[in-house]
Amino acid sequence: MKIKTIFAIIAIIILPNILTMAQNSLAEATKGKFLFGVAVNMQQVNGVNAKESELIANEFNSIVAENCMKPQLIHPQENKYKWADADKVVAFGEKNKQVVTGHCLIWHSQIGKWFFVDDNGKDVTPEALKEHMRQHIYAIVGHYKGRVKGWDVVNEAFEDNGTYRNSKFYQILGKDFIKYAFQFAHEADPNAELYYNDYNVETPAKCEAIAGLVKELKAAGCRIDAVGSQAHMQMDSPTPDAIENCFKKLKAAGVKILITEWDISILPSPYSGANISNNFAYSREMDPYREAVPDSIQQKWNIRVLDMFGLFLKYNDVVDRVTVWGLNDASSWLNNFPILGRKDYPVLFDRNNQPKSVVDEMIKMAKNYKSQK
Ligand code: XIL
Repeated sequence: MKIKTIFAIIAIIILPNILTMAQNSLAEATKGKFLFGVAVNMQQVNGVNAKESELIANEFNSIVAENCMKPQLIHPQENKYKWADADKVVAFGEKNKQVVTGHCLIWHSQIGKWFFVDDNGKDVTPEALKEHMRQHIYAIVGHYKGRVKGWDVVNEAFEDNGTYRNSKFYQILGKDFIKYAFQFAHEADPNAELYYNDYNVETPAKCEAIAGLVKELKAAGCRIDAVGSQAHMQMDSPTPDAIENCFKKLKAAGVKILITEWDISILPSPYSGANISNNFAYSREMDPYREAVPDSIQQKWNIRVLDMFGLFLKYNDVVDRVTVWGLNDASSWLNNFPILGRKDYPVLFDRNNQPKSVVDEMIKMAKNYKSQK
């Protein structure tokens, strides 16, 4: 074969990839500042919709499983693990050279009852619960050792007022369950980053409590790399000021910050939190944009996205990753939370997998921002 022909073939194969690993992707524009990630579901990982898989591969440099690594799904019964889906997510990320993170090891939601209840239906002893936690964390973190960069070790241990959530973990083990979880995770993979993750992190009392936890864990000799702020936002809350104040507090406590589950609901909300067991009755008034979003509201949403993204960029010395909770509006969990069956428009790609106009502006904004790393 002539050398020219060989070059032509190589160009035909390589060029489209170079073009799509777009100069203009969000991941490219945020490089050097923070990772730009997305939560993925199994249809996307399995390539059921090729366009979605392609977008995930091209626009983002980090992924997290939206559900399949949660306790209930990966460890439904004692000593019974279901690795298949999570294995596929990790392989998908590796194939696309993406950073894979793990969500989540210890959480009061989406967890099997067996964790807390013995054969007689009674609460397990503190020793038994600690042992369940140890087995669970060792098995999962061990299974993905060296392949998952970091773990949401504990999710949502605080109430918004800064008190400990009265979960089964807390009832049986007291606040030390958090420390045990971090210790076990570190033992299982000493190189993995370890995160504490929560919603409404910006609420002052909650932020204070989380910063306090970071200091306590560090004083106890535990590894903690970052606090994950889920960042499930509404149109008017949280305020930029609250977010900035909390960023400063966490930075002073000596941890990095991750925006782990970013979305901005465009709908009216009966509740500004993300505890998945809080559900409210459907009404048509609470679901106003079934046909379309009016321009004025869309504009307001765009500005909100840019304001928040601007803050993440401003704090890129400490913000290490921004992950959007869902690729497109159609697959967003917010269509069913906190009210079932609404039509929300909370993420960056629309129902036809087209980037929203704000994406271009985000890319420009990110490119003009200096890395402070
Ligand atoms: C949500 C998922 O998006 C849904 O598909 C699932 O039905 C419930 O959980 N905080 C978290 C995430 O830490 O794991 C939750 O994800 C959203 C709130």
